[in-house]
Amino acid sequence: MHLLENIPLAPLTTFRIGGPARYFVEAREIGEVQEAVQFARSSDLPLFVLGGGSNLVVSDAGWPGLVLKVAVMGIDRRSGYDEEGNVLFDAGAGEPWDRFVSQAVLARCAGVECLSGIPGSVGGTPVQNVGAYGQEVSETIVSVQVLDLGDNDGQVRELCNEACGFRYRTSIFNTTERGRFIILRVTYALTPNGPPRIAYADLKRHFNGWESPPTLAETREAVRHIRALKGMLIVAGDEDCQSAGSFFKNPVLGEEENEKLKMRAANRGLALPSYPALETNKKVSAAWLVEHSGFAKGYGYGRVGISRKHALAIVNRSGATAAEVLALKDQIQQRVQEIWGVRLESEPVMLGF
Ligand code: EPU
Repeated sequence: MHLLENIPLAPLTTFRIGGPARYFVEAREIGEVQEAVQFARSSDLPLFVLGGGSNLVVSDAGWPGLVLKVAVMGIDRRSGYDEEGNVLFDAGAGEPWDRFVSQAVLARCAGVECLSGIPGSVGGTPVQNVGAYGQEVSETIVSVQVLDLGDNDGQVRELCNEACGFRYRTSIFNTTERGRFIILRVTYALTPNGPPRIAYADLKRHFNGWESPPTLAETREAVRHIRALKGMLIVAGDEDCQSAGSFFKNPVLGEEENEKLKMRAANRGLALPSYPALETNKKVSAAWLVEHSGFAKGYGYGRVGISRKHALAIVNRSGATAAEVLALKDQIQQRVQEIWGVRLESEPVMLGF
């Protein structure tokens, strides 16, 4: 284990904001992960596990404990097929997520093509059940290999899909069992020669008028293109992507609440976009609520602002502080609550606040 001290965290995040980690370890092997945990315990230091840093806001003071970057690598295709004829891929938690997607698409395996161009690491995907353009990782994750810091202290375990408790942007890893497991590897089941999922309106529109159905590779390109238009693809030099992606979750409302909100919008001559969610619930567009509360795309607030390409992303325009991000977040939450009576929940992980 190679222990480093006072390591700036901002460059390890897509937001490029935040102070240093008092201690820092990059662990390439499971043994190193275990050693790092032991070190944090014996030194009585709070432990934070860092993935790709793409859904993270680090406080200006940084983190007084140990930041453990899990860099367990490797993407392995198992030989043979499962009962459903799917191929299993084991991917190390530290692998960049998009590298895995690209390999899956190259191997003509369907199931993650709509999740192309998402920043961050493989290990981060089960935590918030990463989803986009009509797909979620919960649909393809077979199991997650973890280091259990709870009752089965220090043991490496394999959690099956059901045990992960996946829902919209949540799992046990960011709710009931937060902090208990360190994700080491994830196993995905993908469909060889399966068709791409063309379900999301943006994708349907993109392929409208095509004579033959798109391939997985064409779908991947389309998703990356759409993401780029929204500032949700990391492009060097584009300050609209210096963000943590969507800053707020899309609120999930009951039928009645959704109707009330729709009425409120209609009274102002506006149409509220909402989509079916679990059971009879509706998912309401948080981006729309933000935009219709006085925070247009491109809104500026000192060194932070709203992306010019998507109202749901708070962006660091240059040298911003976490305090500035939080001040804008509070303002948005307050205005949306006042105008629409809805409490927006922030989506990124907050470290050191
Ligand atoms: N909209 C606006 N203003 C905007 C952008 C969108 O009013 O600036 C409205 C439009 O009506 C649009 C609707 O919101 O049709 C949906 O927008 P979009 O397709 O961009 O999706 P989203 O709900 O804003 C979610 C995820 C994204 C994911 C996309 C595509 C959440 C919190 N966000 O955004 O995930 O890429 O769908 O599936 O669920 C992330 O989590 O960081 C993320 C980028």
